[in-house]
Amino acid sequence: MAATDKQSNVQLEKEAEDEEYENCSQECKDLLLSLPREKGWGVPYIYLYQDIWLRPIRIQAISTFQKQFQAKDSDIIVASLPKSGTTWLKALVFAIVNRNRFSPSQKNHPLLISNSHDLVPYFEFHLYGKRQNPDLSNLPEPRLVGTHFPFHSILDSISKSKCKIIYICRNPFDNFVSLWYFGNAIAPSTSPRLSWEEALERYSKGTIEFGPFWTNILGYWRESIEKPDKVLFLKYEDLKGDIKFHLKRVAEFLNCPFDSEEEGNGVIENIIELCSFGKMKELEVNKAGKILDRYENKVFFRKGEVGDWVNHFSPWMEKKLSKTIEEKLGGYGLSF
Ligand code: A3P
Repeated sequence: MAATDKQSNVQLEKEAEDEEYENCSQECKDLLLSLPREKGWGVPYIYLYQDIWLRPIRIQAISTFQKQFQAKDSDIIVASLPKSGTTWLKALVFAIVNRNRFSPSQKNHPLLISNSHDLVPYFEFHLYGKRQNPDLSNLPEPRLVGTHFPFHSILDSISKSKCKIIYICRNPFDNFVSLWYFGNAIAPSTSPRLSWEEALERYSKGTIEFGPFWTNILGYWRESIEKPDKVLFLKYEDLKGDIKFHLKRVAEFLNCPFDSEEEGNGVIENIIELCSFGKMKELEVNKAGKILDRYENKVFFRKGEVGDWVNHFSPWMEKKLSKTIEEKLGGYGLSF
């Protein structure tokens, strides 16, 4: 890279950082000074706060969320690491919970005209992602919300309620590949692309936003074992393998099982079709729309397959990530 290009990249990253800082309160800015930091992806730095790596505005978001949010008994939280199938799970949960209001086969179903992230907003982006306090009063009940925050970060806000959490986990190999494409797609065009090697170094070290991946996964995994009525732990690969079975599990977990009439009328099949990768990817809203006026909806739909990692990993990369998975997730009864 030419010296002048390097200088302008440094300048642009500085400007991005300034923008991040601009959106933070003084309290947050002071806090950042005391936190360990590492290089970010699309932002100059991410910071370690409450054992997770976050960019400055997400630290602002988590602090506000923890001060303000109190779960209601009827709340349903869809939790995940980025690039684990959240877009899909949000759509499925929305379709299941609202099937009496919106028939999954109706022509103007909300999922045909809106991206599932707009129907099931994230705490850290849609609701607490801005400086002004969010107005949650217009969220229809039961409130469906999403988050990439780990379990320990949301625990205080939910512990007094009977709200339900559904977590989706994905094989870290495919999760990483999906993240690599996404991270480079949403980084400012002026920002340098992260190589596979550099990205894997960071992923394996845990210094990726909302990571380390093992902290995020294990928090929900442990809770799902201890309190299976509270947390339902799903795997992307299992959903791809038998979506009908898992859709029924989700509905039962949410205390709204499909009855025999619905089964006979093909309601489950209609939900599966409505939320299928092929259907969602081809919707106008997902081809041309944007989330929060910022992220193009189309970047949330790439291949939607299990095992794509084999097309991207060298033997060195496979060895490295296998070792990390064994070290960090081995012995917890989790297999991929
Ligand atoms: P790939 O990059 O492997 O294709 P998230 O929603 O958590 O951001 O995860 C995105 C991943 O889920 C992407 O994986 C994306 O293609 C896939 N995905 C999005 N919608 C899907 C759907 N309806 N069914 C299956 N996979 C889906």
